[in-house]
Amino acid sequence: MSQEDLFAAPVQEQAARLRAQLNEHAHRYHVLDEPSIPDAEYDRLFQSLQALEAAHPELITADSPTQRVSGSVLDGFQPVRHAVPMLSIRTETDTEASGAEAFDARVRRELELSESDPAVQYAAELKFDGLAINLRYEHGVLLQAATRGDGETGEDVTQNIRTIGQIPLRLQGVSAEVIEVRGEVYMRRDDFEALNERQREQGAKTFVNPRNAAAGAVRQLDPAIAAQRPLSFFAYGLGEVRGWAPPPTHSALLDALSAMGLPVCAERAVAEGASGPSGLVAFHQAIGAQRDQLPFDIDGVVYKVNRRDLQERLGFVTREPRWAVAHKYPAQEQLTVVEGIDIQVGRTGKLTPVARLKPVFVGGVTVTNATLHNLFELRRKRVRVGDTVIVRRAGDVIPEVVGVVPGQRPSYVPNFHMPRACPVCGSAVVRERDEVNHRCTGGLYCAAQRKQALLHFAQRRAMDIEGLGDKLVDQLVDGEVVRTLPELYKLGVMKLAALDRMADKSAQNLMASLEKSKHTTLPRFLFGLGIRHVGEATAKDLARHFGQIDRIMDATEEQLLAVRDVGPIVARSIRTFFEQPHNREVVEQLRACGVSWPEHDGAAVLDPETLPLHGKTLVLTGTLPTLSRDEAKALIEAAGGKVSGSVSKKTHWVVAGEEAGSKLDKARELGLSVLDEAGLLMLLRGDA
Ligand code: IVH
Repeated sequence: MSQEDLFAAPVQEQAARLRAQLNEHAHRYHVLDEPSIPDAEYDRLFQSLQALEAAHPELITADSPTQRVSGSVLDGFQPVRHAVPMLSIRTETDTEASGAEAFDARVRRELELSESDPAVQYAAELKFDGLAINLRYEHGVLLQAATRGDGETGEDVTQNIRTIGQIPLRLQGVSAEVIEVRGEVYMRRDDFEALNERQREQGAKTFVNPRNAAAGAVRQLDPAIAAQRPLSFFAYGLGEVRGWAPPPTHSALLDALSAMGLPVCAERAVAEGASGPSGLVAFHQAIGAQRDQLPFDIDGVVYKVNRRDLQERLGFVTREPRWAVAHKYPAQEQLTVVEGIDIQVGRTGKLTPVARLKPVFVGGVTVTNATLHNLFELRRKRVRVGDTVIVRRAGDVIPEVVGVVPGQRPSYVPNFHMPRACPVCGSAVVRERDEVNHRCTGGLYCAAQRKQALLHFAQRRAMDIEGLGDKLVDQLVDGEVVRTLPELYKLGVMKLAALDRMADKSAQNLMASLEKSKHTTLPRFLFGLGIRHVGEATAKDLARHFGQIDRIMDATEEQLLAVRDVGPIVARSIRTFFEQPHNREVVEQLRACGVSWPEHDGAAVLDPETLPLHGKTLVLTGTLPTLSRDEAKALIEAAGGKVSGSVSKKTHWVVAGEEAGSKLDKARELGLSVLDEAGLLMLLRGDA
């Protein structure tokens, strides 16, 4: 149906259609990761719905996307008694095949199966490291969300859970009386890193790990703050169900939940037949090998008896079902001792204090260094040499010191101080006002900064130049063989082979990977340039929005701000980067060296001329019945119009509310059209 037909329908129907459209687009964006319309179009639909609801508050429903962030600051949370208790999972410490075999043997014994009976089928999935939540849908609409609490009684955290874009406010295709969906609310590692980075920049307290950050957000009393904490969700089970017959197996249940619009993790398997237990161990090992690359923390895998009738027969003992077991992985946090504090100089000249540690096995690898981020973090955490600290290593992020174990300091140790001169190049170290970071002022004179810029460009997630690691970059920079990024592509085999310890074979391999890296993608290239505040996600957003590097290089701050998740700091940083002639030169030279990627026309940007108020100027006066001045202004601007503070011959419409004053008199004098709020809303819909 076209927009015009849509607006001809009765308001109630219009609102229902807009809600359905918006919910569908949100599902594609948040759950499927396949946005179907440009962000600006989504915003426009959203604003239309907001305007409709503002004019007709009786149209607001619990599943309206405008209601995601709503409600007031609470004094505390109401208790919620779970209709079906929320259980926990027994952990099997033996992660070898014998552990899985023991579980299978136990299940078979409880089910009184003999050796001649067929194998039991198991569903294997991830054990997410977040917090369990019960989502209660009645007639398909999300009405309540509660934490696990003690398993019997949790807390009502509905306001906060509604802000999670991935959680559908209405289930697709089911309107059963009650469906309670259980799953894990968690924070992705990249979202966690970005959140902590923001906290650090503001000198605010950082979160210890994604689980704590997620738990804090869920139990935040102010829903507006919760909405700013980026949370995600995976469904993994059911609570109370009335009026719906769930599929007969757990794996089919997860498929059904996914079809209802709930996010379900794709990393799962069914271990079949006689290979049952060994299939489970294979899953544990395969996921273990992938663990670092997952975008979120897991602390193990879970095996569940697949048939739900068998699950029921097995039942549970003291809060733990007999039909499920968890196999853990090495912990991502460990204790060790700080043996020294060193300084590292990064790509942007930032001086980072790094704790030298007594080697410790964390998150599957041995860690000897962990970042302390900056002087203020170090002071806030009160870290000194000799302290026993908690080290966290998760995914391929740099291990960090998350805190000190109190009362373990051996004796008096002096406090740590930042050096005044860069330990690498001797340039002055400065800290700007309102900045938490100390920086070396040496710029590309500083070898450390040049090295880091090269390593950043070459990394797997950027240009993926295999073989260009720390040692080689040290040689290239220290030997002044490579000073800028494009010079990498001007290296010849001869120059390379002339380096110390560089065999002909490795020189040729590097040449081959340099050649291969030239065929890249725009997001990788952009990320590789090392523009401050442009991480992988922002690089992707920019590439999707603009499609072409030249458009990004020439984009104004305003145009950059139109990209989802790009705020003023990021926009400024991108603009500053491309205002520097030498940075544009680097891009040109890299292209001249043959670095290339496919480009497109950018997101289908709405043609402003099709907006209903394009080129029109409106003046607001008096108090409107439902819209505040700011809301009315936002709606007019979203529809392509301008709001002016004074009435003149150039004014197209004056919107007058109660107690309108001299502006209304002036409008009458000039013979201008005067509208009330209803008239404005019609205008916004393009009906006038
Ligand atoms: S099933 C068997 N499945 O682990 C009924 N729980 O120890 C219990 N968890 O509180 C829940 N991933 O927070 C289940 N794939 C998964 C899970 C999972 C993480 C958490 C959940 C629960 C705890 C139980």
